[in-house]
Amino acid sequence: MSLVKILLTGATGYIGGDLLIDLLERSSEFEVYVLIRGNERSSTFEKLGAKVVVGSQDDHDFLTKTASGFDVIINIADSVNVSITKAFLLGLEQGKQQHHHKAILIQTSGSGVVLEPTAGEYATEKIWSDLDVQAFYELPLQAPHRELDIFVTEYPQDKVTTAIISPSNIYGVGRGPYNRLSFINIAHERVAIKYRKPYVVGKGDNIWSTSHIKDLSSAYISLLDGLLHGTAGHGLEGYYFVEASQVRMAEVVQKIAEVLQKKGLLEDTNLIDMPEEVLQDPAVMPAFFVEYPGLAKLALGGTSRISADRLRKIGWKPEHTDPLDAVAHEIDVLLAE
Ligand SMILES: NC(=O)c1ccc[n+]([C@@H]2O[C@H](COP(=O)([O-])OP(=O)(O)OC[C@H]3O[C@@H](n4cnc5c(N)ncnc54)[C@H](OP(=O)(O)O)[C@@H]3O)[C@@H](O)[C@H]2O)c1
Repeated sequence: MSLVKILLTGATGYIGGDLLIDLLERSSEFEVYVLIRGNERSSTFEKLGAKVVVGSQDDHDFLTKTASGFDVIINIADSVNVSITKAFLLGLEQGKQQHHHKAILIQTSGSGVVLEPTAGEYATEKIWSDLDVQAFYELPLQAPHRELDIFVTEYPQDKVTTAIISPSNIYGVGRGPYNRLSFINIAHERVAIKYRKPYVVGKGDNIWSTSHIKDLSSAYISLLDGLLHGTAGHGLEGYYFVEASQVRMAEVVQKIAEVLQKKGLLEDTNLIDMPEEVLQDPAVMPAFFVEYPGLAKLALGGTSRISADRLRKIGWKPEHTDPLDAVAHEIDVLLAE
């Protein structure tokens, strides 16, 4: 049986790096390539057993030409840009016509698409199911990821089989070779370490659905297997939320405070409303939070509650259900930076 040729983007990042480890474990079935920018990191991936394609996601002709040589593309490096995904889809389509490749795209999105601006004061009640396709049509086009989600789910399925993995707030230390940390819980941890105070947006009463990074990787694998075997929905039936539990942000920050207090790095564990200057501090916030004023408050204080019904239907079973379990390990990694 010939190997399924897979191109993975975002492998130097948190999500892609962790998934790479699971893909490489299936070397008797998959031939795994990573698309990275810059040659400097090639040998790290080659040592792990991956093949390397070097190039930028900004060169769309290059993306199309590259994609035409693959059966499957898992795009993790970008979750909003339609033209990048379009270039991959065109290439997959050409590869199917010219070389009889399988032509499968798994695009990454995010549950930020249903994020409510609750500013840490409360949590909205609604839990979005990915089986409720009709409800998604009522979302505004301006919602994060929405334009790309529509483009991917409505793509002609006779040309390319498309599906979307939509992660919630991902936590836990990843197994990839470069970035091993996520951003929402990690931002709260960086803040508490730097300022020695348990800052939270508002009262921290907002709720995020969450999933451990290893369970997210197993979600990609379950979907990939389902698409290869024709047992997973795709196209309009191919939007997959990923969550294993829900957590109130105040609980996360309370746990962070306890861990730091035990280490003698924080005295008072009473939660404090996060000041604006902390929300805009580039030393503790991800660059894109600082770039778009208001985004940090929206993300850290917002509510996004989803249900991964479609993944559970295809047999995915998360192994980690308590996001607080990962806090101590994440803090150890941050303190060692
Ligand atoms: N982490 C979460 O909780 C979460 C939840 C929902 C959705 N998501 C979405 O999932 C995606 C990946 O998230 P992540 O946490 O893994 O992020 P990350 O750790 O920052 O990784 C981003 C990856 O994308 C690559 N990349 C970015 N721009 C690129 C470009 N122009 N050309 C080539 N590669 C490029 C980066 O490569 P370099 O190393 O070269 O910069 C890196 O490998 C993002 O779109 C994010 O919005 C994440």
